[in-house]
Amino acid sequence: MNVCVIGVGYVGLVTGAVFADLGNEVICVDKVEEKINMLKRGEMPIYEPGLEELVARNVKEGRLSFTTNIGEGVRRSEVIFIAVGTPPRENGETDLSHVEAVALEIAHHLNHYKIIVNKSTVPVGTGDLVRNIIEKNKNNDVEFDVVSNPEFLREGSAIADTLKPDRIVIGAPTQNVAMTLLELYAPIERPMLITNVESAEMIKYASNAFLSTKISFINMIADLCEKTGADVTMVAKGMGYDQRIGMHFLQAGLGFGGSCFPKDTLSLIHTARKYGEEFRLLEEVIKINQQRVPRFVERIAQRLNPLNNKTIAVLGLAFKPDTDDLRDAKSVELITLLRERGATIKAYDPVAINNARKILPDIIYCKNSYDAAEGADALVIVTEWNEFKLLNLERLKSVMQQPIIFDGRNIYDPKRIRKMGFEYYSIGRK
Ligand code: UGA
Repeated sequence: MNVCVIGVGYVGLVTGAVFADLGNEVICVDKVEEKINMLKRGEMPIYEPGLEELVARNVKEGRLSFTTNIGEGVRRSEVIFIAVGTPPRENGETDLSHVEAVALEIAHHLNHYKIIVNKSTVPVGTGDLVRNIIEKNKNNDVEFDVVSNPEFLREGSAIADTLKPDRIVIGAPTQNVAMTLLELYAPIERPMLITNVESAEMIKYASNAFLSTKISFINMIADLCEKTGADVTMVAKGMGYDQRIGMHFLQAGLGFGGSCFPKDTLSLIHTARKYGEEFRLLEEVIKINQQRVPRFVERIAQRLNPLNNKTIAVLGLAFKPDTDDLRDAKSVELITLLRERGATIKAYDPVAINNARKILPDIIYCKNSYDAAEGADALVIVTEWNEFKLLNLERLKSVMQQPIIFDGRNIYDPKRIRKMGFEYYSIGRK
């Protein structure tokens, strides 16, 4: 099938590369020339394990190409995926200006029947909006349909998630239209759910908001565990064995960040308000999440009192492991608060340092964990990269000013680490 993907962010680029790998002719479009030029040179505009190889293979075999010319992409394709950014506005509402601009461009280049698929995370009702824009602005009498096909991939495991999703959701106006998408996804052999457009749009937000609710819930339980002597990792395990609850997304810590959960949860609150409902549950989910880092910083400050003139090593800057993404990263919030109180920060991350420099120019960047820990009054774990789990703790201890660890992601066994002579603070464990 001839497929066009508009937007080469995480969702667009991974989707395009995977569809090409499944044997389709895919053209990826982006208006940012720099990104397209990078891709043409074989360089990735984002860090995602396995992506460079996947893209290179499909470019070489002639199934994947890149262009800034949206007209070219639209005209030669039967199915067009919209995968552009939908950032939040100040009030939490989703900014749809990129989606609207793309819909207008598609309208201008419509030359034969096409299916336009919304893969961007867009609030319920956006399918209608896109359809109206194209209908009003198309130059001729060509027919088209608009489908919602939300994406559930996670950064860091984006390719595996795309090839083996728990489900594929297709929100289509008719069964016939859904069939084209079914055909495209058939080689993946995963459960598929066909709904109307509105339900598919809602499934995406309901899923992300539910997962963020799980995280805030376990974080509140963690706070209670600290006060009562319970251990949140055991509590989560004990809950998770119940199949109705499940083990996933019960990892207590500094809360959820990234470009999806915070913004999508806020957006759903906003949508509810638009329809006259107050989604108080989700308002609390956000509030609990916003208290995670200040609470943690308070604990660090109490122990190191005063923070002024103290040196703190921060391990992990990306919002989660296996990505270089710092959008809504807890590291930024934590470092900003620590610096406001006069601390000097030495930071290390395996891949996110280049991105971090743009947001946090005034901290010391280190070449590895030991370099960051050198002379530090305390070490803080912010992102649970695997390499931090395997550190030589003896060496770490020997270079620190004092062996104190604040573990925001519970990566160490408290008994073991204390036995090695560290003073150790974690989340939801005594
Ligand atoms: C999330 C969803 O998991 C994907 O299904 C969805 O497609 C994507 O958003 C999206 O809407 O595009 P992502 O933001 O890449 O994916 O990352 P997650 O692995 O879900 O983690 C989100 C945040 O929650 C991270 O800050 C992570 O540290 C935190 N988290 C996750 C916890 O604090 N505890 C957990 O148990 C799990």
